[in-house]
Amino acid sequence: MMVTMTERIDQDRAISPAQKTEDKNLDGLLRPQYLSQFIGQRKLRTNLRILFEAAKGREESLDHILFHGPPGLGKTTLAHVVANEMLVNIRTTSGPAIERAGDLAAILTNLRAGDILFIDEVHRLGRAVEEILYPAMEDFALDIVVGKGPGAKNVRLRLPRFTVVGATTRLALLTAPLRSRFGAMYRMDFYDDESIQTIVVRGAGILDVPIEADGAAEISKRSRGTPRVALRLLRRVRDYAQVRGDGRITRQSAIEALLLLEIDELGLDDLDRQVLLSIIEKFDGGPVGLDTIGASISEESDTIMDVVEPYLLQLGFLERTARGRMATAHAYRHLGVEQKTDGEGDEQARLFD
Ligand SMILES: Nc1ncnc2c1ncn2[C@@H]1O[C@H](COP(=O)(O)OP(=O)(O)O)[C@@H](O)[C@H]1O
Ligand SMILES: [Mg+2]
Repeated sequence: MMVTMTERIDQDRAISPAQKTEDKNLDGLLRPQYLSQFIGQRKLRTNLRILFEAAKGREESLDHILFHGPPGLGKTTLAHVVANEMLVNIRTTSGPAIERAGDLAAILTNLRAGDILFIDEVHRLGRAVEEILYPAMEDFALDIVVGKGPGAKNVRLRLPRFTVVGATTRLALLTAPLRSRFGAMYRMDFYDDESIQTIVVRGAGILDVPIEADGAAEISKRSRGTPRVALRLLRRVRDYAQVRGDGRITRQSAIEALLLLEIDELGLDDLDRQVLLSIIEKFDGGPVGLDTIGASISEESDTIMDVVEPYLLQLGFLERTARGRMATAHAYRHLGVEQKTDGEGDEQARLFD
């Protein structure tokens, strides 16, 4: 026990004090490499397995694949799993990283047959870049202009058959032509409690932290169905258990650590509560637009839309209406705020008249 503790401390030192680097380095360790290591999302796994087998059986390259859903659910992980399962190379880029059409052309001409081109945040590709991508995905062709002025010629280059794996948190922002070029689209949903618990236990094993089932359950409950959150909380609880206890994650040490982090029993953190309280207290429960909420708490509306809203919708704390977001009765109850009934509201309005 003592030996493992010392080893673990050394390991932590060797990694880096910076949170971000820690995240990145551990990511490589924690990231499942093959479908068999990928926990949960059962239907998705089955569908992917069929897709892989079929492509292998026909000795063809895979159809273009799109993964969409909230952040932290495993889209990037799956892109790498696809490459590993198909025994092909993966080239990674992202929508905002490809600034000009020429950047994409350079990437495309360097691909080899069967390669995977992973484009993260694919909804953020520029117009001109997309125009290059369409024929590349559909016909494996690259249209370029050679020369300048009246003598310029259109030349069509052939590309090897490759596979685009795209990931996005915003399916709605994907242009229709781009969307139609993905032969396989998979929606990632929040994980069930049991899967998250398995992910926490597996993560603890990799990090070499002793964990009791009760402790894993407490972490899972507060992980909002998201593996990335579960693994982050696991690391924070591990720190707490190491500093305040004997290093073992128990129900008690998990609860204490999570309380210190101000994460409540549903996994809501400070930002979630700020969003809800803003709607309730500043905008009378809504409806109110996301941008207005964002401005009122000095937070990017993109962050609210990507990170906060999906889980609050899932909990039934938030409702989307044509006129904006509304806090539901569940949200009031959870925050312990009394909801004004219509009658009371009228009475108050009259008082102010
Ligand atoms: N099904 C899973 N089983 C185990 N770990 C997972 C699973 N899905 C995601 N993770 C872990 O969660 C973290 C976030 O996953 P990631 O693929 O980066 O999410 P996304 O790209 O959707 O934001 C990674 O550390 C990854 O290892
Ligand atoms: Mg990702």
